[in-house]
Amino acid sequence: MTRAGCSAGRHRAISSVEVIEVGPRDGLQNEKVSVPTDVKVALCRSLVDAGVRRIETTSYVSPKWVPQMSDNVNVMEALKDIPSGVEVSVLTPNLKGLENAKLSGRVDAVSVFGAASESFSQKNINCSIEESISRFSAVAETALGDGLKVRGYVSCIAACPYEGPIDPKNVVKVWKLLKDLGCYEVSLGDTIGVATPNQISKVIEALVAEGADVNELAGHYHDTCGTALTNVLRSLDLGLSKFDSSAAGLGGCPYAAGASGNLATEDLVYLCDGLGIDTGIDFGKVVCASEATLDVIGIGNRSKSAQAWQAKKQT
Ligand code: HMG
Ligand code: MG
Repeated sequence: MTRAGCSAGRHRAISSVEVIEVGPRDGLQNEKVSVPTDVKVALCRSLVDAGVRRIETTSYVSPKWVPQMSDNVNVMEALKDIPSGVEVSVLTPNLKGLENAKLSGRVDAVSVFGAASESFSQKNINCSIEESISRFSAVAETALGDGLKVRGYVSCIAACPYEGPIDPKNVVKVWKLLKDLGCYEVSLGDTIGVATPNQISKVIEALVAEGADVNELAGHYHDTCGTALTNVLRSLDLGLSKFDSSAAGLGGCPYAAGASGNLATEDLVYLCDGLGIDTGIDFGKVVCASEATLDVIGIGNRSKSAQAWQAKKQT
């Protein structure tokens, strides 16, 4: 069977996709304009109103490294009453981050974020991959003991901004370590948004060959080269049904120069709606959810499908 024939059959079998909205964290961490706390909070609330059931609201990282997330405590204080059916997650690179996150009282999952590239690990979290796993191990043990879920990220699954192409074997190595720590799900980050579908296949196939369950993997594709949506389609073909996305295509990564935002949530929802795959998210509401944030930043919505919808609404 050709790949095309194989692919066409598989994504139809997936009837629902879990969208993990990462715009308030991954999106806003890299916008040059600092977004006021109340606007961030309103963004999170509007996204939940639009049907988002998993949301990454902020990160507990050093304010010197990522000043845009320095209001994490206030954001979480204001989001205490987010309905219990919504999974709220935050980034915690170390025990200090975890202890601060726990004070909020409304975190369901904490995310540790590793990389398949040594150089990226150093630039992003100031330590080697080995040292990062040792820090994450302490975070995971404490978090799991406290009844929190632990999510893992592997950055640079296809390429690193400092080292170039990354061998899928390195992704498998870090995925295994994160899995052994007790991560319930590992998100696969095309951090600089350069991967094309065949590279995504190689990574997913390498993971599955080593025993990964596709239901415990998520796709986290930045859209620098405009390939994020095709990478989602390929991932659906291979059985993945969880994807990280960012409202309005906000953001990037502060330690990956030139990387643009994640796949826009609007484009993910538009694709899924068209394929008859349920996301539980209302397309029009998610477009409107980011309007106030975009006004503050002074940019338009970066999602093509959102732009088309807005243009149609104005006529
Ligand atoms: P470090 O400087 O090596 O840490 O940074 P340290 O332990 O030596 O501490 C230095 C200072 O930071 C101390 O303060 C600590 O208290 C403080 P000082 O005594 O100088 O005043 N500190 C903290 N403060 C608040 N919260 C904390 C914390 N830890 C230490 N948790 C560290 C190590 C990891 C903290 C730093 O490198 C850092 O914060 N990095 C953040 C990197 C980041 O947020 N990157 C973006 C997110 S990752 C991403 O976007 C990729 C992803 O989307 C997936 C993908 O796209 O591939 C997830
Ligand atoms: Mg990212």
